[in-house]
Amino acid sequence: RIWYNNVPHPKLVEYKKDQNWVRKSGNYFVFPGGGTQFKAGVTRYIRFIEQIMPQIKWGTHARTVLDVGCGVASFGGYLLDRNVITMSIAPKDEHEAQIQFALERGIPAFLAVIGTQKLPFPDNSFDVIHCARCRVHWYADGGKPLLELNRVLRPGGYYIWSATPVYRRGKRDEDDWNAMVTLTKSICWRTVVKSKDINRIGVVIYQKPTSNSCYTERKNNEPPLCSGSNGHSPWYTPLDSCLLLPALSKSGAGNSWPISWPERLNIRSSTSSENSSTWFSQENFDSDTKNWNGLISEVYSSEFAVNWSSIRNVMDMNAGFGGFAASLIDRPLWVMNVVPFDQPDTLPIIFNRGLIGVYHDWCESFNTYPRTYDLLHMSYLLQSLANRCDIIEIAAEIDRILRPGRWFVLQDNIGMIRKMDRVLRSLHYKTAIMRRQFLVARKSFWRPDSTGS
Ligand SMILES: *[C@@H]1O[C@H](CO)[C@@H](O)[C@H](O)[C@H]1NC(C)=O
Ligand SMILES: *[C@@H]1O[C@H](CO)[C@@H](O)[C@H](O)[C@H]1NC(C)=O
Repeated sequence: RIWYNNVPHPKLVEYKKDQNWVRKSGNYFVFPGGGTQFKAGVTRYIRFIEQIMPQIKWGTHARTVLDVGCGVASFGGYLLDRNVITMSIAPKDEHEAQIQFALERGIPAFLAVIGTQKLPFPDNSFDVIHCARCRVHWYADGGKPLLELNRVLRPGGYYIWSATPVYRRGKRDEDDWNAMVTLTKSICWRTVVKSKDINRIGVVIYQKPTSNSCYTERKNNEPPLCSGSNGHSPWYTPLDSCLLLPALSKSGAGNSWPISWPERLNIRSSTSSENSSTWFSQENFDSDTKNWNGLISEVYSSEFAVNWSSIRNVMDMNAGFGGFAASLIDRPLWVMNVVPFDQPDTLPIIFNRGLIGVYHDWCESFNTYPRTYDLLHMSYLLQSLANRCDIIEIAAEIDRILRPGRWFVLQDNIGMIRKMDRVLRSLHYKTAIMRRQFLVARKSFWRPDSTGS
């Protein structure tokens, strides 16, 4: 349940009354766990999927999920109980601020739309993609939206589609279904199972192939195969109309399914994004792990005036290998791992570890609502940003994202720390400089005088 006054949207309750997923109760919004496609409750729906497809093994085999058109993210929220982490995405549409509801509930969520550009996720990254009536026209525009799902889905990964064309008859639903059958065949997705639950809601589950053979054996080269990997992370990149081959390298490196969760957290699997430079070496990975384990247990937890029991939504603004998030794995919080678009492309490694994240440029605003994170963390990034944008703009964005009463931790050289300290104090943050490399800043409830006087 969340404070009504933090996200006061009474219309949503009215509009979604019959679907049992949000209601107002006194000063709160409460979320009973319903949804458009799971009126009987999301836990039953999650179990149903496992019953019709036992090989999914929530929380061991399947660890990372992308939920497209997630609503208030109940699916992702309840999957957390099964050790599954979900990136729930939705655009801001006429259903109002659903992502804001999700984040207010403490569930990982991100504003995104499948429109004309690629999602800010690496190729072959999610174990499972889910869409329950997410109203994306998958086969529109030559199938580009579904090709985008195919791009971010791991080879051997599953696409769970729960929508009326799967189980309803009627001209429009049947046309949609037939178009989907043709398109999924053309991209070599195998139908694993198609079933109806006790409420007669239908679900179909597809699997992406792990080898190239089906693609090359197709009668028509339609959609055509992409000519190799473009080699850089998607950032302002238009959607492809071609099909990415899963096994790019001859060795198939980076395409085998990760080992089970939680063991996969500590494995540095090779990915196609890396080059042979020592930057991506096992030694670098191991020292990153050791460094963060040490800093979290000896410095962050004991020396900083951060109240960890009030922290739920965490963002690592320059995540590297994801060592910061990995060191926090036993706490009841989650971490959005951000890999800046111009930094070494470590996001595939982060996903292979069973963590989630996005590409971003911190000289722009981040796709989230105001006051949605409890702890923002930035390690050695400010210098390179300050070459391209003003530190005041970066501070303003940090301030927008942070909840009042919560923390921003900056690790940097003392020069950068002093600059940021000055800006944050002008915004009435309480700050402390520690060990000459950390700035611990707490946002207050202060706001500028809105009359402008
Ligand atoms: C820490 O946060 C928790 C949860 O918000 C709160 O109940 C507790 O009073 C806080 N502790 C301190 C010392 O502020
Ligand atoms: C390899 O990656 C590192 C880290 O992104 C980069 O600094 C280096 O220039 C790259 N080398 C080549 C040959 O692409």
